[in-house]
Amino acid sequence: MDVDFLLNGESVALRDVAPTGTLLDWLRETRGLTGTKEGCNEGDCGACTVMVTDDRGSRAVNACILFLPQVHGTAVRTVEGIAGPDSELHPVQSHMIDLHGSQCGFCTPGFVVAMAVAHTNGDRDHADALAGNLCRCTGYAPILRAAQAATADPVPDWMRDGARLPAPVGAPPPADAHAHAPETRAALATLCAERPEATLVAGGTDVGLWVTKDLREPREIIFLNRCRDLQDIAVDGETIRIGAGVTMDRVHALLRTHHPAYAELVRRYGSAQVRAAATLGGNIANGSPIGDNPPPLIALGATLHLGHRDGGRDLPLEDFFLEYGRQDLRPGEFVEAVSLPAQAPRLRVWKLSKRFDQDISAVCGAFDITVSDGVVTAARIAFGGMAGIPKRAFAVEAALAGKPWTEATVAAARDAFAEDFEPLSDMRASAAYRLEAARNMLARYLAEDLGQSVDVLEVRA
Ligand SMILES: Cc1cc2nc3c(=O)[nH]c(=O)nc-3n(C[C@H](O)[C@H](O)[C@H](O)COP(=O)(O)OP(=O)(O)OC[C@H]3O[C@@H](n4cnc5c(N)ncnc54)[C@H](O)[C@@H]3O)c2cc1C
Ligand code: FES
Ligand code: FES
Repeated sequence: MDVDFLLNGESVALRDVAPTGTLLDWLRETRGLTGTKEGCNEGDCGACTVMVTDDRGSRAVNACILFLPQVHGTAVRTVEGIAGPDSELHPVQSHMIDLHGSQCGFCTPGFVVAMAVAHTNGDRDHADALAGNLCRCTGYAPILRAAQAATADPVPDWMRDGARLPAPVGAPPPADAHAHAPETRAALATLCAERPEATLVAGGTDVGLWVTKDLREPREIIFLNRCRDLQDIAVDGETIRIGAGVTMDRVHALLRTHHPAYAELVRRYGSAQVRAAATLGGNIANGSPIGDNPPPLIALGATLHLGHRDGGRDLPLEDFFLEYGRQDLRPGEFVEAVSLPAQAPRLRVWKLSKRFDQDISAVCGAFDITVSDGVVTAARIAFGGMAGIPKRAFAVEAALAGKPWTEATVAAARDAFAEDFEPLSDMRASAAYRLEAARNMLARYLAEDLGQSVDVLEVRA
């Protein structure tokens, strides 16, 4: 596949690149730009962070799980392009030096790029912006101080790639026998119908690991990142429709006003680098039992829209997950969008993971419980991490419906969890822990309603 982009301000035209070649490998091995480091090679450490700019703005992404065709038509800036053309240091670099933000230096290029992106975007939540960057020796305080100090400085001119994106670079890449990058829904639907065995790649935050860790080599790929029809968000009165190709950073921004509890879950979804690449559709289509979106979406009664060349179909999202590793997705179909209610003030979502930031759920619970005059009038509850698929807690819902919303009802509903779920023990949590944690989430919901302190980050002795 042909790939054209800007690299540190200069045009690059690659011909016939392998569709699963990563940007990181190309930067280091072909281009000799070894400032971008390889740490984990699975999106977890941020050592490989680069800045990608297109007409939607600039974002930090992990180059180790970014396939070269995904940067076609963008401007990429590596750590070598963060300092100015006459070697003037970027403000984040100066402050990292002055405030002692680096020791061995292995993580430093990734931090500097992530900090420079946040600086460019005026993002002041440094802990959040840098949660995806791991440092093993300096400690985070000096790094956060450097990020904070840089906020007083203007964005250097050389960082404004958006204004320099040349028109030809935005043109679609020509398709070849093994890789396609459709620009419209119709073109995507035709490709999926004609090539049902092809692997779809949206953000590549799952597929990237198949390649870098499992050493799999998909035979034919359909890249979705240029298909703008899948990237729309429509808020229409009481319903929100989110295209499958909408990245999790945009989902987060949207949910902050509509569903704050769900937004807080998404804030802890991977890291800024992962959220900038990962899509909502990819998180649903992969069918993972520990994907973070399905539990809140099922609790909200979301509808899944599946596309096909010969006409799509809609189904309740909860019916999409059939059993572990098997979804109700027929040959030629693709995930097109999800619709959910625009408001659900009683929705609560909690994610338990071994690490607070940048970790996959051990248990994720979503609850939408309506209480009227002290009685539960409706309950929709769904969990991730409790079964082979994201799953509704029908027995728990039944144990609550029509009952007074009290500690006695919550205690009586405890047994129902074992009717709904037989969780597994694995490296994230034991079955007993998962069951107990799920029960405690229900108790937490009631405690919050009763005005008790429930947030461990807010509870003070
Ligand atoms: C470091 C790291 C942290 C992560 N943290 C989290 C986390 O906190 N919570 C969480 O839930 N997940 C997490 N993930 C997993 C991953 O980011 C998500 O599942 C992500 O949303 C997948 O989206 P994607 O666009 O990258 O999918 P891709 O990797 O592009 O695709 C995933 C699968 O879905 C298929 N697919 C993609 N789009 C479509 C479509 N429109 N129609 C049909 N099939 C499609 C692909 O063929 C593939 O099988 C993490 C991953 C990494 C690497
Ligand atoms: S090398 Fe660790 S995130 Fe890429
Ligand atoms: S300075 Fe050594 S890992 Fe961060």
